[in-house]
Amino acid sequence: MLKLLFVLPPLLFLALLTQEPAAPAASTAPAAQTAPAEPAAPADQAAPASAAVPQNNPVKPTAESQAHAKNTYSIDCAMCHGENGNGKGDLVGDMKLSLKDLRDPDTLKDMSDGELYTLIHDGKGKMPAEGDRAKPDDVWNLVILVRSFAKK
Ligand code: HEC
Repeated sequence: MLKLLFVLPPLLFLALLTQEPAAPAASTAPAAQTAPAEPAAPADQAAPASAAVPQNNPVKPTAESQAHAKNTYSIDCAMCHGENGNGKGDLVGDMKLSLKDLRDPDTLKDMSDGELYTLIHDGKGKMPAEGDRAKPDDVWNLVILVRSFAKK
């Protein structure tokens, strides 16, 4: 047991030493960049999407990110909104929902990307919140996917 007393302090010292170089580097980095802070995903936490959600989609979709969104949609959304967005998913009857047809370009035309983000993240009425099941980028990809139903 006594031995520990001799081993621990040098270990702690070492640990501190190895951390030191990282600290100054981290503190100078933000000062060097004059660019305004990115809208750093405030929705990371379980809290509702904050008012700081950008109105325009900051995400550039890739084939991969859209495939991922499609997969999420199939699991989390299609049971209500329908696989193709027609608003006739399996739960519609049981839950007595009447959903708009997402394939109709008029359905989402008055909603901004930011509004759609908040709707998907926070849920609304009988629509459950996607919340932390999806990362902010994934929610933005869902916004793109949902809009794409009207383009086919
Ligand atoms: C339990 C059924 C249900 C699920 C699951 C669900 N929604 Fe909804 N969704 C609704 C309802 C009900 C509304 C209408 C909400 C309102 O305006 O009160 C809605 C509204 C919407 C709207 C706005 C257009 C409209 O029809 O009013 C979009 C876009 C949307 N949902 C996307 C999604 C996405 C994306 C998912 C999956 C992440 C999802 N929803 C999951 C039930 C659901």
